[in-house]
Amino acid sequence: MRIPGLIDPHVHMREPGATHKEDWASGTAAALAGGFTQVLAMPNTDPPVVDGASLELATDLAAKNARCDYGLYLGAGADNLAQAADLAAKSAGLKLYLDQTYGPLRLDDMTLWLEHFQAWPTDRPLVAHAEGRTLAAAILMAALVDRPLHIAHVATREEITLVRAAKERGFKITCEVAPHHLFLTKDDLQGGWAEVRPRLGTREDVDALWANLAVIDCFATDHAPHTAAEKAGAKPPPGFPGLETALPLMLTAVHEGRLTLEDVLTRMSGNVRRIFGIPAQPETWVQLDLDAQHTLSAQGMHSKAGWTPFEGWAVRGLVRTVVLRGQTAFENGVVLAAPGRGQCIND
Ligand code: NCD
Ligand code: ZN
Ligand code: ZN
Repeated sequence: MRIPGLIDPHVHMREPGATHKEDWASGTAAALAGGFTQVLAMPNTDPPVVDGASLELATDLAAKNARCDYGLYLGAGADNLAQAADLAAKSAGLKLYLDQTYGPLRLDDMTLWLEHFQAWPTDRPLVAHAEGRTLAAAILMAALVDRPLHIAHVATREEITLVRAAKERGFKITCEVAPHHLFLTKDDLQGGWAEVRPRLGTREDVDALWANLAVIDCFATDHAPHTAAEKAGAKPPPGFPGLETALPLMLTAVHEGRLTLEDVLTRMSGNVRRIFGIPAQPETWVQLDLDAQHTLSAQGMHSKAGWTPFEGWAVRGLVRTVVLRGQTAFENGVVLAAPGRGQCIND
């Protein structure tokens, strides 16, 4: 079965700054192995991507090392209002960190949020990490200035209910949900292994996400690799790798009749392309074996994380081949696209 190349609007490639966790070559190898041909990378790198110089640095590294196509977000900061808006065309979107998570980019002052909501072009993606009550404030702000806002990794019953109500009211809100929030509860992992933002929810949270599938515009991995040593250590950072498990998990849910293949493709390709204004890729597709049964394991995966929260899960549905702009980029477990093969979607 042939499907379009998938698009992940939320990944962390860790380059520059933390290439022991991931780099553009390893992260985009993981993307291709997972059936993704376009990824949008978050700005919480070191240095963070917040101005012309850091965007250029990160874009140059991506251009050299990425094996699939990519875009780079800018991070909203305390003093980059005008500068960020000027760079809108060169970036995939503007990311606002409104709650504490991994990295230095949290914005506390709501007047600053408002200024960014106003300064950023309404026709370019604006994405917020906003949990719980912060989400309510972010939705209000988008409504006040009457602009689109995309909510990253919705994870709880409260949050999906709020997004649903906002959509019913006609607010220009879209949202994504990560596979780990659809397939895991907080009781499934222990200690540092469970650390992720937003945190894993309860059974009720997971059920509410599935019950509100119609409200979910995209499935985004929030691929946030940290090494096994870091996760097992004294100060475990939040985040899970996800690029190489997302599609098999979703295809297994299709096999179980929890949603349709079309539901999956809309949320991992069509809607993402529309919401984020991502250019089409000619001669690009993914060949799937829908019946192939296999076991998820970090062994054989391409991410530098070296572990997966889904270790040992029996799944159905395998990526056989990925063709990227006319050339085979992945086949039978082997990544063929070289670093530098990827193109920037915002060139
Ligand atoms: C992300 C990371 O590690 O960069 N961590 C996470 O738990 N999701 C940051 C984020 O997406 O909030
Ligand atoms: Zn986040
Ligand atoms: Zn993230």
